[in-house]
Order: sequence, then structure tokens, then C-alpha cells
Amino acid sequence: MLAHLTYRCNKKSLREYFWENYDKGKWHEWSDKIKTDEYFEDKPRDIWWKVYEIHDIADPIIKELGLEEMNVSPRFSYQFANTRLPTHVDIDNIVGLNMNLMDDQVPDIHLNNRPYFYECMLVDVGGIKHSVESVPYARLIFKLAIREPWDKIYKALENKGWIDPDLTMCINPNLKEYISIAPAKENELWHYLNHTQKNK
Ligand SMILES: [Fe+2]
Repeated sequence: MLAHLTYRCNKKSLREYFWENYDKGKWHEWSDKIKTDEYFEDKPRDIWWKVYEIHDIADPIIKELGLEEMNVSPRFSYQFANTRLPTHVDIDNIVGLNMNLMDDQVPDIHLNNRPYFYECMLVDVGGIKHSVESVPYARLIFKLAIREPWDKIYKALENKGWIDPDLTMCINPNLKEYISIAPAKENELWHYLNHTQKNK
């Protein structure tokens, strides 16, 4: 499930921070636990640059969002042009809060093979198959990886008035009934992950 947020960060200052700290980053390392649609053939390397340990700039944002009591791991995510993140489900039932840092492009995420464009969104990447498809430009995102239940995060954001109900409901009319489902044994995600593994 995806919820659009009304929160808007200061893109310019976050971009400047990212480029000043670019050299402290590293290539994304896929966990061995992650199963992707290309898992045994081509787990992508050298396409996705991450800058972690950015609490000095991230903490005020986390507080403004009302998430300061939660387990939140902030990072910058820079995906190079013409690269694809294959379909996968994130480990630890992570919920992502993504903010677009580009002025001239709107990024999208594919959930169950459908594209969703966003400026600032909460997305259940630990409970939904997702990918980022290739585009001819690089993408810069500020991301909070939140290891807390979807409902708890959603309610905290709603209490602060950060959920954009109109935009969210028009793409997710069943939002209020949404239940986050982890890839537990025998559910659809579990079958997807095991099917992916067995048939590669
Ligand atoms: Fe992911």
C-alpha cells in the first residue's frame, strides 16, 4: 500500500548535503535474504549509491514527521540513469518513507507491476512486491527505512496531518481497510519468494 504525504522537505539543502557527503557513501549491498526476480543470475551491483549516517540532517525531519520514537534508518539513495532495481520485497518488513529531491523529475515506484509517481510517500516495501524501472536520468531520493508496523507509522503521520487524503484515496480507495501482510509462511508473498527461488 502507498500513502501520499503533504510533507515537503527542503530539496536544495538536502541535495547539497548529499553531494558534500557523496564520498562517504557506498554501493548498495543486497542482503542474501533478499530474493529478486533476477536473484540467482544478476543481483544488480554498481547502480545504486547510498549515503548513510546522516542523522544530523535527518533527525529534525524525523521529528517534524512525528516519528522520533520509532526505529528509523535514514539514507540518501542515488540510482544511476538507465538502471533497474528488480522486483523484490524488502527484509525486516520495512516501511519506506521516500522523498523526491529532484526539481525537474518525478520518480515512480512499481508496486505489483504498476507505476506510482510520488513527491513524498509512505510505502509498504516489506509487504508488496516492488521494482524501480529504468529511466534515462539519475534519481536522488531521501529515504527513511522504518522498522515498525505500517498501522503505527500511518497513524503517527495522520495525527500530524501529513497524510494527503485526496491524493491517497484516489489511488487507494480501500486505504482504510489496508492490512500490511508480511511474507509469512503460506501467504501470497511467501509463495512468490519461494517460487522465485526454486525456479531460478
Ligand atoms: Fe525495496
